[in-house]
Amino acid sequence: MRLIKRILTTAEALRSLSGIPGQDIQMASRKDAVQAAVPADSLAARYVHIRNATVDLCKHLEPEDYVVQSMPDVSPTKWHLAHVTWFFERFVLREYSKKYNWFDEDLDYVLNSYFYTIGGMYARPNRGLLTRPTVKEVMAYREHVDSAMLDLIAEKSGDKDFDFLIEVGLSHEQQHQELILTDIKHVFSVNPAWPTVNPELTPPPDRESPPHEFRDGPSGIQEIGHKDDSYCFDNELPRHPELIAEHQIGSRLINNGEYLDFIRDDAYSDPKLWHSDGWAIINREGWSRPLYWAEGLDAEFTLGGKRELDLQAPVTHVSYYEAYAYAKWAGARLPSEAEWELAADEEKISGNLQESNYWQPIAATGSQLFGDVWEWTSSAYLPYPGFVPLPGALGESNAKFMSNQMSVRGGSCVTATDHMRTSVRSFFYPHQRWQFLGIRLAKDSR
Ligand SMILES: [Fe+2]
Repeated sequence: MRLIKRILTTAEALRSLSGIPGQDIQMASRKDAVQAAVPADSLAARYVHIRNATVDLCKHLEPEDYVVQSMPDVSPTKWHLAHVTWFFERFVLREYSKKYNWFDEDLDYVLNSYFYTIGGMYARPNRGLLTRPTVKEVMAYREHVDSAMLDLIAEKSGDKDFDFLIEVGLSHEQQHQELILTDIKHVFSVNPAWPTVNPELTPPPDRESPPHEFRDGPSGIQEIGHKDDSYCFDNELPRHPELIAEHQIGSRLINNGEYLDFIRDDAYSDPKLWHSDGWAIINREGWSRPLYWAEGLDAEFTLGGKRELDLQAPVTHVSYYEAYAYAKWAGARLPSEAEWELAADEEKISGNLQESNYWQPIAATGSQLFGDVWEWTSSAYLPYPGFVPLPGALGESNAKFMSNQMSVRGGSCVTATDHMRTSVRSFFYPHQRWQFLGIRLAKDSR
């Protein structure tokens, strides 16, 4: 009862949160009050922490920044902020709360991303055309839903299905935290001044990467997939055996200096290194370097603005085609996702993740298996044997994307630390490179 009372206090406190850009200081102190009002290890605390973290990522943005869509893969920041909120409204409040009042039913169509089983949706490439709802209205929407959600969590927490659904919503929000940063990076990159998204990032360390080595990985019949009863996405299951050939895997990620050698060896002009589709796209699009490198190959655009190219830091914003061509040029190959997972299985989950506050890859001190960049694997993104999608509309989250995409592993410098698991699989089309995507090598032992 006391716990419920404390959480209700939190709901009351959240009702007074303004969340409007430009009011960061007042907001921070009110958020502290909210966080102090709930038990640290409760579901409510986790909800408040992750929801606040999302808004905090945007604290240096101005209202104009929230609206722009610089390409079809990018969504405006305000759309992300509203869509993750809609997820709780549509899949939790609508299912579990009898007294919930919809904020604005017209938002249902605009904020549905790809859940065809529940209805239609506004065209993704046109999200940047919507000036309404305004940023202020989106923040008010977040408050409205947060208030109702905290009341509901106080009432229902402990119900296994309910708690699982909240975890789905929070994991979904963390995925969009990453997208908010990678999308705004693209938005700012099209401005020739290369403005700074966040002036408070930690400057990258000035250090040498350790030498790149190949290390033996486990072989024979090995198990991969999520291990225990803790939360995971449906695509991480079931844990299952795979037959792994003798192989070696790179001791760290490939860095900018090594990728520069590849460019200077005229690799972008050598058709022998490229898949047919890769050769077609680099010629059609005129690609000759990673997405955010300056033409002079001496600087790159980062979330901290324009920075001198750090030759020791992992190369990032490369497509699968570029990763494949680099590996071929280097006399190696990309690891399969099973090889990657077996290497990662021996490591603690730590690295240069979102909370490290670099928001760009940095020179290695260890294996870099977690954080820095999502690592392209040679594996197509497919269901594991015996895969069962989540029931209902949420089953659309993963299963229907299992065609023509590649699995990427390990998270990036903008992935929330508690979002990472060894078994997490993400996926992108081979030509995509606006995410933090990079390269680890592997090779056959024989
Ligand atoms: Fe989403």
